[in-house]
Amino acid sequence: MASTCSSLISLATCLVILVNLLAHSAEAARAFFVFGDSLVDNGNNNYLATTARADSPPYGIDYPTHQPTGRFSNGLNIPDIISEHLGAESTLPYLSPALRGQKLLVGSNFASAGIGILNDTGVQFANIIRISQQLEYFQQYQQRLSALVGAAEAKRVVNQALVLITLGGNDFVNNYYLVPFSFRSRQFSLPDYVRYLISEYKKILMRIYELGGRRVLVTGTGPLGCVPAELAQRSRDGSCDPELQRASGLFNPQLEKAINQLNSKYRSNVFIAANTGKTHADFISNPQAFGFVTSKRACCGQGPYNGLGLCTVASNLCPNRNLYAFWDPFHPSERANRIIVSQFMTGSTEYMNPMNLSTILAMDEST
Ligand SMILES: *[C@@H]1O[C@H](CO)[C@@H](O)[C@H](O)[C@H]1NC(C)=O
Ligand SMILES: *[C@@H]1O[C@H](CO)[C@@H](O)[C@H](O)[C@H]1NC(C)=O
Repeated sequence: MASTCSSLISLATCLVILVNLLAHSAEAARAFFVFGDSLVDNGNNNYLATTARADSPPYGIDYPTHQPTGRFSNGLNIPDIISEHLGAESTLPYLSPALRGQKLLVGSNFASAGIGILNDTGVQFANIIRISQQLEYFQQYQQRLSALVGAAEAKRVVNQALVLITLGGNDFVNNYYLVPFSFRSRQFSLPDYVRYLISEYKKILMRIYELGGRRVLVTGTGPLGCVPAELAQRSRDGSCDPELQRASGLFNPQLEKAINQLNSKYRSNVFIAANTGKTHADFISNPQAFGFVTSKRACCGQGPYNGLGLCTVASNLCPNRNLYAFWDPFHPSERANRIIVSQFMTGSTEYMNPMNLSTILAMDEST
């Protein structure tokens, strides 16, 4: 600073530099990067020719603008609420033309509805951004950030960022169980399929590490057999489908184990496992305790449990979205998303392994 403000530079220029530095440090929340599927997509699919989209009403009915944005929610989604906790604005979708200049410092959301761990998951949605492509975009993003702030600063921004990745649900509902006798279900028994998914997921997580991610929140799948879509298609009496429950029951603990192995390999708590299955199960088993009237029936949809087809203007729509755990046949309401994120932030080790985000963020602040 002293050398910058030497007598060679006019006082006015010096003041401008100082003001910029102060403004920058005031708004320097850590950057946030998001990878994954529709649970965390905040609008990338709006830019693609795909059927997996949430860009028409009543999606967004409770969003600040009351307009659909591409989020699969009545209002905010999980990444938005994490951004609130970081004291940052929401990240922009990577494909948004507004993502340029200083906005790059906020981070970006690379997620795309319909994708899974495997490349053949979600093929029926045509053009979606598969996880390998999301990671290529992350590299491209880093080049753009380097051009803006220099390579060393770009590396620091990425190393100090929070990363969120949500994958896996679609590898079951939009692949293995999509149709009876699917290719993958003929190829693999369920336990072998889960082992294969986990081995592929590990490669994805190692790639995020190679690309500079050092604090990576990894969510498990929810109780797949209990979502309104599966109740409508597979349940006669409203109880969760045992086969899909078995799938998430195998997947989540193995993912947590893989994460522990990676943390040992890197000798650091890079990856944080969020037991979203348990959080969801809490409000599915006792919705009233969380202020919901139901966790079986979606707010928006049609057919049994409002679980069939898409949520559109022609669907049934509940008047008060805060009373429903599920907004549409697959996706939680904003209120449910808030409960999930509050477990990320402050949950006990039963929910967050090795520790919750508020502990991690506080540790990082102090180093
Ligand atoms: C998925 O596709 C990408 C890009 O074509 C490729 O690099 C990757 O190896 C594929 N993954 C698997 C598991 O086949
Ligand atoms: C977070 O996790 C820690 C360690 O498990 C726990 O002591 C604490 O109560 C949790 N909540 C907050 C807000 O830190």
